[in-house]
Amino acid sequence: MKHKKDLYETRYSRTWEIDEPADHVVDFARTLKNKAGLILDVGCGAGRNSFFLAKEGFHLIGLDISLSASRLASERNQREKTQCMFVMGTFLHLPFSEERLDAAFSSYAIENVSLEQIKKALSEMKRVVKKGGVMHITLHSPKHWRFGQGKKIANHEFVTFQMIKNKQVEIIAHFFEKEEAGRLFQDIGLKLLSVQEVLSPNEKQRAYLIRWRQDEDH
Ligand SMILES: C[S@@+](CC[C@H](N)C(=O)[O-])C[C@H]1O[C@@H](n2cnc3c(N)ncnc32)[C@H](O)[C@@H]1O
Repeated sequence: MKHKKDLYETRYSRTWEIDEPADHVVDFARTLKNKAGLILDVGCGAGRNSFFLAKEGFHLIGLDISLSASRLASERNQREKTQCMFVMGTFLHLPFSEERLDAAFSSYAIENVSLEQIKKALSEMKRVVKKGGVMHITLHSPKHWRFGQGKKIANHEFVTFQMIKNKQVEIIAHFFEKEEAGRLFQDIGLKLLSVQEVLSPNEKQRAYLIRWRQDEDH
C-alpha cells in the first residue's frame, strides 16, 4: 500500500487542473433531493466536483489518498471561501462511522485496483451512507484505451508495472461489461438504479460506465 500511495504522489492527474465539474456529477446533483445533505466525494483529487456541489448548497467531504491533491483542494477551498472539508485517506477504509453520510460518489477514481478492491471500496461506501442514500460511481468499460494493456491476470483484468522511487509498483485495472457492473451491485446488496456509458470530454477515447445506486438493504 505504501508504494501505491507513492504512485499518487508522483503520478500527477490531469483532472487536478480542471476547475469545472464532470458532467456526470452535474447530472448526479439533479437527482439529490436533500440539498442540505452531507456528501462524500471519494478520490476527490483537487476537488472540482466537491466545489461544484458545495456551491449548489450541499455539505461536502472530499477524500483522497494523495497529499498533493489534498493540498490543491484545501488551497482552493480557502481561495474561494467554500466550506468543503478535505481529508486524506483511502477508499478501501473510509474513516467514517456507519450511516454517517447522505450520499457518496466517485468520479474516475476507483480505477487502479483489482475487482476485489473495487468491491471493498463499494462496501465501504455502502457502510457509511444512510439507508435510502444514493451512490454514484464511474468504472472502466472495455472501451477504455487501457483495455488489454499489460499482462492479463483475470477476465477483463490486467496488470502493468511502473517504477516509483526505484521500486516496481503494480497497477491493476479491471474493465466492466454492463452486465458485470450490474451484478457487482447486486452482489453487495445494493439496488441498481441505472447504468450509463459515457465518454470523458477531455480524453475522447476513454469510455466509462456510470452507475447510480440506491442503497436499500442495510
Ligand atoms: C483521475 S483522478 C480523479 C479526481 C476527481 N475525482 C475528478 O474527477 O477530478 C483520481 C484520483 O483518485 C485518487 N485515488 C487513487 N487511489 C485512491 C485511494 N485508494 N483512495 C483514495 N483516493 C485515491 C488519486 O489520488 C486521484 O486524485
